[in-house]
Amino acid sequence: MASTRERFLSTFNVIRDELLSQLAVRGIPPDGVEWYTKVLDYNVVGGKLNRGLTVIETVQIFKGRPLTDDEYFKAAVLGWAVEFLQAHFLVADDLMDQSLTRRGQPCWFRVEGVGNIAFNDSFILERAIYQMLKTYFKETDYYTDLVDLFHEITYESVVGQLVDVITSPEDKVDLSKFSMERTSLIAIYKTAYYSFYMPIALAMIMCHIPHSKDASKDPYKTALSILLPLGEYFQAQDDYLDYSAPPHILGKIGTDIIDNKCSWCINVALAEASPAQRKILEENYAKKGDGTDSSAQGGGECERRVKEVFGQVGLDKKWEEYESGMYEKLKGMIDSLEEVGKEESEGGNGVVRKEVYLKFLEKIHGRKK
Ligand code: IPE
Ligand code: MN
Ligand code: MN
Repeated sequence: MASTRERFLSTFNVIRDELLSQLAVRGIPPDGVEWYTKVLDYNVVGGKLNRGLTVIETVQIFKGRPLTDDEYFKAAVLGWAVEFLQAHFLVADDLMDQSLTRRGQPCWFRVEGVGNIAFNDSFILERAIYQMLKTYFKETDYYTDLVDLFHEITYESVVGQLVDVITSPEDKVDLSKFSMERTSLIAIYKTAYYSFYMPIALAMIMCHIPHSKDASKDPYKTALSILLPLGEYFQAQDDYLDYSAPPHILGKIGTDIIDNKCSWCINVALAEASPAQRKILEENYAKKGDGTDSSAQGGGECERRVKEVFGQVGLDKKWEEYESGMYEKLKGMIDSLEEVGKEESEGGNGVVRKEVYLKFLEKIHGRKK
């Protein structure tokens, strides 16, 4: 029996072949097909696949029995669709953030011969989602719900990226503009919707879980009430790891300090800093190097000084407190959910299953990469 990950990966090969055959019918020449293949292989696989695998696991929980081959395949296609969306965002995000590495290799735009072509490759990755949905779901009664969800969630994410990038201008450092409220809003929109709500909502749609007119009983609203805070916690982890994790474990070199990001870390540091420490932060945050070294190597002396203040104000301790606090809070929120429709998953009452949320929480809690 193939491992969960291997079985999921075997579906990727089917999807990949299908997408390539769709190029063939258009008469796309071999060099185009080769480029497209490289875009997929370099950017879609190689991550943790948490989002994609969660779709399948969630469908399994709702069905309450082993999936048929067709059900498995459909759930896996939806899982890959989220992974394609992630790849689309990351290729563009790395350009915007001028990042160096991703998943232990150079960011796609930094690969020899790619450069600005990465913009179009990012579009290619996004549009592949709709090719997949059409190929495999056109005949289902929930096709338009899937398409609609992808449009909706993509919109939330790009609006989140908008606030992220305008809050971190390259040439104007103004730490008084930062706040934890802003960090939280950015996290919810740029990350939580697509990384947490999306995989679960896709599984719910595939399992024909209906909306409820009564908002307090709508299972999709219930899902949002847990998954947005969960995604916010995940992005705080991402921010903390950007500062603290060794790049060889994280798979990427942190750029938040150089990029002037309104991250969880800088907000905590500003709240704890003495006037002298605040001055150091103001003079060194988002400054590339120290005039003598190259920013292309990652941080320079300025970044080192910022990290020094992060250390002095006890950021690691603050993180531990925040992490355990969030874990307890999220667990409490999940615990107090009222389970609905456990026996009859596809019944008309809507389905809320604690297991779905607990599994997701356990997957990310305490992560080091
Ligand atoms: C990017 O957030 C979120 C999206 C891709 C929409 P970050 O900029 O913090 O992500 P990393 O740290 O580069 O992975
Ligand atoms: Mn980034
Ligand atoms: Mn980040």
